[in-house]
Amino acid sequence: MLFNYTNRFSIVTFAGSALIKLINMAKIVITNIDNKVISTNEKSNTVLKILHENFIDWMHACGGKGRCTTCKMIVIEGMENLGHLTVHEKRFMEMDALKENERLTCQCILEKGVVTIKVPETSKLPHIQYSD
Ligand code: FES
Repeated sequence: MLFNYTNRFSIVTFAGSALIKLINMAKIVITNIDNKVISTNEKSNTVLKILHENFIDWMHACGGKGRCTTCKMIVIEGMENLGHLTVHEKRFMEMDALKENERLTCQCILEKGVVTIKVPETSKLPHIQYSD
């Protein structure tokens, strides 16, 4: 009887932690890649790393060092769910190379919730079929 109770408790605990993970998942929606949805539990990774881990090919000419802006994304909704602007992003904004609705995927962190993004025309890769 005690064994069964322990097992049930473990199952409930496991289900509870799985539910909490599911609720805490953050999501990226890419409108011009057929509204592709990517879910992640990893809140300390950059958007670029999350995209790559989910096999989304995304331009990143400087290798994610914050030096080029080729990795930029247009944020349609959910800007408040991203981490603060980094030094590199602020520099590019001052140079007018990054607009207020754009972020560098190699620099910004998705902290929570949903962010809806789009690949800018200048960062589209030739081998990918975009839906706009
Ligand atoms: S890859 Fe160059 S700035 Fe992000």
